[in-house]
Amino acid sequence: MGRCLTILGLESSCDDTAAAVVRHCTGAAPEILSNIVAAQTDLHAAFGGVVPEIAARAHAEKLDLCVEAALEGAGLGLRDMDAIAVTAGPGLIGGVLAGVMCAKGLAAGAGLPLVGVNHLAGHALTPRLTDGLEFPYLMLLVSGGHCQFVIVRGAEDFTRLGTTIDDAPGEAFDKTAKLLGLPQPGGPSVEVEAQAGDPARFRFPRPLLDRPGCDLSFSGLKTALLRARDALVAEKGGLTQADRADLCACFQAAVVDVLAEKSRRAIAVFRAEGLAGTGFAVAGGVAANRAIRARLEAVANEAGLPFVAPPLALCTDNAAMIAWAGLERFRLGARDGMALAARPRWPLDTANPASYGGGRKGAKA
Ligand code: KG4
Ligand code: ZN
Repeated sequence: MGRCLTILGLESSCDDTAAAVVRHCTGAAPEILSNIVAAQTDLHAAFGGVVPEIAARAHAEKLDLCVEAALEGAGLGLRDMDAIAVTAGPGLIGGVLAGVMCAKGLAAGAGLPLVGVNHLAGHALTPRLTDGLEFPYLMLLVSGGHCQFVIVRGAEDFTRLGTTIDDAPGEAFDKTAKLLGLPQPGGPSVEVEAQAGDPARFRFPRPLLDRPGCDLSFSGLKTALLRARDALVAEKGGLTQADRADLCACFQAAVVDVLAEKSRRAIAVFRAEGLAGTGFAVAGGVAANRAIRARLEAVANEAGLPFVAPPLALCTDNAAMIAWAGLERFRLGARDGMALAARPRWPLDTANPASYGGGRKGAKA
């Protein structure tokens, strides 16, 4: 076995406090030695979204407990680490700051190097951790906070092909559930309802398909759903079980169509760049949706690209992806000192900066 690197990763950019230990020995597959996630769902449930101040306080309280649990789970001590990796953005700034300060304290105390990680790079590099995917590959990040197509050419080399100009798809699923009185998180509830629904009953828009490019939009879809719901309520005084299922099925079908067509276009751009890609990968909570996953897999197959979808626990926010992205940066020589800044916005593709507003889960990038 070749030289081994062992990294402790910290994640606190949204509503999950997480710590993990990842090891990679050259010539072998990477190993996740521990992966601790303390979700804050209950703390925010009453507010219909993540409350930044509550999130930041909870991160500050839980980070060291998560670190302790991650080290214990790995059967290692801080001094067995080669470096500490931490999400330095983008995200809710109070939470990111809590993570960065904790990581700085640990690094200073143990005399370890510190590596700041872009949260989106964590998602984008996960297929290498889980499936050993080689560069370059095409990635679709779809979650409650993000939606973008990215060409991943290297651990620090990303080209964004398109992004949402308003809501992220997960946000749209969550708002749909709210409008129909279904439980949060909305994605799984809407998916279950949709199974019994008629996806052809309402003519919902397929936003931005009439325009070239890979940018996406989901807020018009949510408005269309609201109008259809209000029309039904005005007509009949309420929604039947079948109405709710049909609304969910039509909404989901529209999201599936938009993601599939935009993925086709992103793959065409990827190919036009002359890249002999190794795969089309997805990550983010929305990638858990079976209808979405199946259509994206079909699109990848049509294009002759292997489809890679990491296990759900590594698609959603976690610290193993941060430890892994930190490990990849560390190997490239990256070292961040005590001046490492917490950044609310931090586009993955610096030549293609963020231009959109904040979402329910913080700033988009
Ligand atoms: O990646 P994630 O755990 O957190 C961030 O947004 O960072 O994604 C959560 C989002 C939520 O909006 C949730 O409704 C959505 O992923 N989601 C789904 C499904 N499961 C989770 N959306 C559609 N279908 C699902 N089965
Ligand atoms: Zn995320």
